[in-house]
This record gives sequence, structure tokens and C-alpha cells, in this order.
Amino acid sequence: MRGAPLKAAVVGHPIAHSQSPTIHGHWLESTGIAGTYEALDLHPDAFADEIRALVERGFQGVNVTVPHKEAALALADTTDETARRIGASNTLVFTQGKIQARNTDAYGFWENLAPSLNGQTPKRALVLGAGGAARAVLVALQDAGVQDIVLANRTLSRAQALADELAVSARIEPLSWDDAESLMDQQMLPLIINTSSRGMKGENPITCTLAAQTRETVVNDIVYNPLQTALLQSAEVRGCRTVDGLGMLLHQARPAFQAFFGGRVVVDAGLRHKVERRMGLV
Ligand code: ATR
Repeated sequence: MRGAPLKAAVVGHPIAHSQSPTIHGHWLESTGIAGTYEALDLHPDAFADEIRALVERGFQGVNVTVPHKEAALALADTTDETARRIGASNTLVFTQGKIQARNTDAYGFWENLAPSLNGQTPKRALVLGAGGAARAVLVALQDAGVQDIVLANRTLSRAQALADELAVSARIEPLSWDDAESLMDQQMLPLIINTSSRGMKGENPITCTLAAQTRETVVNDIVYNPLQTALLQSAEVRGCRTVDGLGMLLHQARPAFQAFFGGRVVVDAGLRHKVERRMGLV
């Protein structure tokens, strides 16, 4: 006997910009699983109560976006190790009335980047930005075996604090933004990742020339609006391999879909084009 359709949602405030309904809707269609996925705008004051109401209503779980990722971690009954290390949860899974906090951002970041690394984990990486997104990237890089990370941020003290907190298996060296721009001009780096909001539509672009970078350098901008940031354009001029940020958004959704609906799914060109069109990126 088939039960009622499985229910999941993305929660945020605001929520209209979220691409999660498009992504999960695509997979519900392609797998033929009977499920619904909606976008819910939850005010921060009501967040915990609203989440508990969704558990009561029989939801399988929710994806969590700005500004609720820390609150989601705080209200969960259990937390997986990655979410604990990152200090935020983007996926709450409801099982038998209990709430489990997970974080799939580190997974999504690495899945998006790995195909461009030719099977080799770089020993060294430069990470730009020390906000929420940087946390997931630093966890993923260390789990993948990167040993030496330079963490550059406009506010140096924030990079220092994050390096102190998150360095486990790698050495993380804090650096000022200006020094990072000089470093990119002077030393070949195997991997450069922008996690800062610089370069997003409406923000200052990153205009450095990457003078010392070569075709051996992989440059990943996790910004995906625009898809082709000024940083990626400079990287292409230098002949670097480039990776845009949209794939991270798509891949972080895969483990969530599996947890909510039980289906294994892939990120294919059809999904990517659908999201690109919906966001007006192409
Ligand atoms: P997210 O969760 O997207 O990482 P966040 O936690 O607000 O967002 O962090 C934003 C990051 O972008 C920070 O590293 C921020 O630098 P500061 O810590 O100095 O604020 C960085 N950032 C934002 N605007 C920037 C700019 N114009 N130049 C350089 N860095 C910028």
C-alpha cells in the first residue's frame, strides 16, 4: 500500500530567491517519487516553533537557508559531526519525532570541485573570505587531505579566529586581503577558492590579475550569480582551470533529497540548465 506523499521544504527569511524547490522538484519528477517540496518563509522569532510544527505535520525534513542555519543547529535533538564542526546546519531530518541536524555544504563544495582536480588533492589552498561559507569549505578541504591552507579575509581578526577554531588536520595561516592579492601575483598556488561575497551581483568584483597563476591552478568561485565572476575571468586569461559556484548549490541538495525522499539522484546538465534559466544566469 502506498502512503501519503512525502513532504519536505526549504525554510528561510526571505525565501523567494531559493532554488531548492526547482532542484528538488526536478528530482521528484525524474524519480517519479510521490512527494512535495515547498518554500516556507519563517520569521526568526517563530523558527523553533514552526519547525516543531512541521515535525508534527509529518514532514520528512527541511533544507535551511539564511538566516536560520545556526538556529537549526541549536534546536536539533542530534547533530552530525560535520554540522557540529561547521557550526551550522543546512539540512534538518525528522525521524520518529526527533530532529537531526546535518550539513551537506562541505559535501556539495567538494563534489563540485573534485572533477576539476584530476584525481589529485592539492597540498595547499588559498581560501578568500572567513564567513559562514568559508567554514564549510575549510572543513571539506581538511577532510580531503589538504595540508596547508592560507585563509585571507578583509577583516583579518575574523580569519585568525576561524583558523584557530577550525584547524584540525591542516595548518591554517590567516592573511590580510591585500597580502592575498600579492600572494596570487607572486606565487603559483594549486587551488584558490573565493568564499567571500565579493563578486556577487551588486558587490565589488575581485579584480586581481593572478599574475603567478598557471594552467596548474584551479580557481573556484562559490559565487554563482553571476556565473562568470571577474575572478574566474582573470583565471581564464591566465589559463587556469575554473569552477563556478552553481554546482555546489546543486550537489549540496543531493544528500538532502535522499534523506527526505529516499531516492538517489544526480546533478545533470538538464537540472543545471533549468536552474540557470530560472535565475536568469544565461
Ligand atoms: P557567508 O555566509 O556567505 O559566508 P558572511 O558570513 O556574511 O556570509 O561572510 C561574508 C564574507 O565575505 C566575509 O568573509 C566578509 O569579509 P569580512 O569578514 O571582512 O566582513 C567577506 N566580504 C563581504 N564583502 C566584502 C568585500 N567587499 N571585500 C572583501 N570581503 C568581503
